[in-house]
Amino acid sequence: MSKQIQDMVFEIKFEDSVTGVDYRMLTLVNDEGHLIVEHPVAINTVNYLLSLDTDERNKACAAYLAIAFNYTRDYPEGTGAATAEYARSAWVCLEQYVVESGLGEFTDEDFANLTVIDFYEGRAVASITSPNGSEVVITLRRQNGQLWTEHVRHFTDEDTIPTIQELFQEWEDAANSRLQIEPAAVMSFGDVNFVYAVDTSEAARVRREALLQITIGDRLIVEQRIFEGSKPILYFILEVFNMLALRFRIGSVASVNEEDRVTILNAVVGLIGGHLGMSEHVQIEAGMVYAHEGSIDDHVTYAITHELTADNLIKATYRFMRMVDDTMRRSIEMVDQVEYLEYPMTPLEFYNAFQVDISRELGVARRFDIAMIAAIDNASGLGKDNELLFRIKEDMMYFKQSTLHSPVIMGRKTYDSLPNPLVDRLNIVITSQPIKDHTTKSGVVFVNSKEEALSKAVNYLTENGGDKIWIIGGAQIYAMFLPDAAELHLTVIHAEREDADTFFPEFNHNAWDAEVLFDEPQLTSREGEDISYNRFIMRRKA
Ligand SMILES: NC(=O)c1ccc[n+]([C@@H]2O[C@H](COP(=O)([O-])OP(=O)(O)OC[C@H]3O[C@@H](n4cnc5c(N)ncnc54)[C@H](OP(=O)(O)O)[C@@H]3O)[C@@H](O)[C@H]2O)c1
Repeated sequence: MSKQIQDMVFEIKFEDSVTGVDYRMLTLVNDEGHLIVEHPVAINTVNYLLSLDTDERNKACAAYLAIAFNYTRDYPEGTGAATAEYARSAWVCLEQYVVESGLGEFTDEDFANLTVIDFYEGRAVASITSPNGSEVVITLRRQNGQLWTEHVRHFTDEDTIPTIQELFQEWEDAANSRLQIEPAAVMSFGDVNFVYAVDTSEAARVRREALLQITIGDRLIVEQRIFEGSKPILYFILEVFNMLALRFRIGSVASVNEEDRVTILNAVVGLIGGHLGMSEHVQIEAGMVYAHEGSIDDHVTYAITHELTADNLIKATYRFMRMVDDTMRRSIEMVDQVEYLEYPMTPLEFYNAFQVDISRELGVARRFDIAMIAAIDNASGLGKDNELLFRIKEDMMYFKQSTLHSPVIMGRKTYDSLPNPLVDRLNIVITSQPIKDHTTKSGVVFVNSKEEALSKAVNYLTENGGDKIWIIGGAQIYAMFLPDAAELHLTVIHAEREDADTFFPEFNHNAWDAEVLFDEPQLTSREGEDISYNRFIMRRKA
């Protein structure tokens, strides 16, 4: 056997496709031309094999037959993929073939692009892949009317792999115990079919859930779960349309190639254009709309409608809403208008981009938390002569780690007390003086009010990510933001500087939950004298 395999030849035979699924036969023959094994290969795999040079192709063919062997290894001898001669020892032989032919060893990559296919009663197909040569993944697809459904199973070396027939049977039994997805409407344009199906299970009905599939001929190209609006046909066409605009958000179907994309795009445009042009058959008209709803966060919900206007524009109207109390709600409506191939913003993107406007309009509770950070002594002292009272290295580190990559808001005096602006943070400095009187430095912005400071901070977070705005002092600025703060990070130094001239504002401790950071006070020394401190994170009670 080991000698024989050295002399084996791989051939790809070109045969007509069966049941609409393109495949070719891959065969392995010995030096006398006897067939050892043959198996159908998916067309994508064939194309991949043909793109390789001879050595690589031989290795890939061997890897491919190893996958075929793997999934038929539990079949009774003589059935399945391999002849009796090949079965059982095939994997060992193929490995030997690869090593002795100087093709290296099998790696995961050798299996990555290989798909073995199998057929079952006409309109069903099973594709078998192996991510690494030992694990076997079997994907079953079945066509019911024009709707394809999919079922995936994974097997390891230790599992007994059922036959494809058994797997289909198992799937059918499982499907019968659940409620089925029913094809509800099919619209075709040329070869392209838009299959719209509803999930009749109760949970899905509550969610008004539907399934959209696009097939070209019998090939399933796109599959997506969608949420049905009041006009299903319009909805699903627009969903297709939008999906194209959104560059396909594809569910379980692996890939859409460029050619398929163009075919579908033409069909959608033709379908919509055709309907628009034939007013006596109008199912879809200019101004058609679909809508969906969701929430941005605990405070804000949205409803978005996409409307196709006759001149190929999609008008996306975002309505953000907030319940003020049980009887009253506030809403704001904003519009985005794009060409149909552009990308309409998602509600979240839209919300983020226009957050300041929307929040102001809705009076929304802040999405960004304001946190204050300070080091105080026992008498709440903060500073003296525009300097800190104490310098504790570990506390400086904590300050830096906490505030890094965030916006920090400070008063002009605190800014003046810094040797340099804080790096890797947006320094927002509040002053009552004209901004032009200040020297501009990178990473620093001057503002004249609290509102302006918050707006700069929110913009920074919207662009750079993050959700915390840090208030870093001094006394006037802490007092200004205390009513808005959700967190206070206070390092309390167990000492009192009687000469302190600025103090942290008083606050009602009962309104906050305090977390103590150290079990024991931390010790540090200052001018030969030991001082201790602890740190508290206070969170405003709900
Ligand atoms: N221990 C700590 O953790 C800590 C932290 C930070 C600071 N500090 C200390 O605190 C002291 C500084 O605090 P501070 O209270 O004197 O000064 P500050 O709060 O840092 O800055 C005050 C300045 O902010 C501007 N400002 C305040 N309210 C404003 C408003 N409503 N509109 C426009 N501008 C406004 C004014 O700038 P213009 O004068 O330019 O108009 C004002 O002079 C220093 O000793 C510093 O070392 C301690």
